[in-house]
Amino acid sequence: MSTLDRAAVVRATAGRRLCGHPGAAIEVHDELTSTNDRAAALGREGAPEGSLVVALRQTHGRGRHGRVWSSPPGGLYLSLVLRPDDAMIRRLPATLLAGLAVAEAIDATATTGAKTRFVRADLKWPNDVHMGGRKVSGILGELTRDAGGALLVLGLGINVSTDSAALPPELQATATSVAEARGEAPDVVALLAAILERFEEHYDAVRRGGGATILAAASARMPVLGKGVRVRLVDRVLEGRAAGLNATGGLIVETAAGQRETVVAGEVEEVRST
Ligand code: BTN
Repeated sequence: MSTLDRAAVVRATAGRRLCGHPGAAIEVHDELTSTNDRAAALGREGAPEGSLVVALRQTHGRGRHGRVWSSPPGGLYLSLVLRPDDAMIRRLPATLLAGLAVAEAIDATATTGAKTRFVRADLKWPNDVHMGGRKVSGILGELTRDAGGALLVLGLGINVSTDSAALPPELQATATSVAEARGEAPDVVALLAAILERFEEHYDAVRRGGGATILAAASARMPVLGKGVRVRLVDRVLEGRAAGLNATGGLIVETAAGQRETVVAGEVEEVRST
């Protein structure tokens, strides 16, 4: 099992275009309030795209919709500094690419030890990663603008070998870790390297206009597609069948009346037909 420190991350990212290119910062901290806060500060100071902040635990980890992201030791907490242009922002959301990269990296670093059960990493729209129906990873994208253009801080939290007893009681029924789902923990440095590699490939592909293969790969990991869903939107609840993803990663919901609506944000739950 490798130790997650700066030297290991420098070795794991050497020669890559995004994280690892000369000039991009790499920071690994034992503890931070939030890697997103540290990456945003670096971005405001002019850190280039690909700069990376990793922490082994966070004291004020943040989730989507103002929630707390519980960040005990055993998890992997990282944030990337990205500087997408407007065309890139209008294409596929980087959060979807990150969720896909995490799911692919988890599968790619599965161990083959005697205790391992292979449990595939799935995506819960829009970008949570689940194993065996429980959440192992969430993504938080925070976009701001300054004189230099857009600054996107992309934060990824992964419960790698987190003891679920260390998570808040209200999460224990719905969250797990890769190690608990699979019986054995992946090597955390190999997992981080695989996430960054997969994300860079997807990000570059989208930049070149190649979103279709990524949508197909993401769709193939979304068990909810084709099933009945209830989507909690800000102002209402939408029910229907999850028919697929549109070209920018929105969820297409087909209602019982045969109408198609595309949602870009919301909490999706599967509804079993009676
Ligand atoms: C969610 O599912 O609500 C998103 C969770 C995102 C958590 C990560 S951990 C690294 C980065 N730093 C934070 O404070 N949040 C993100």
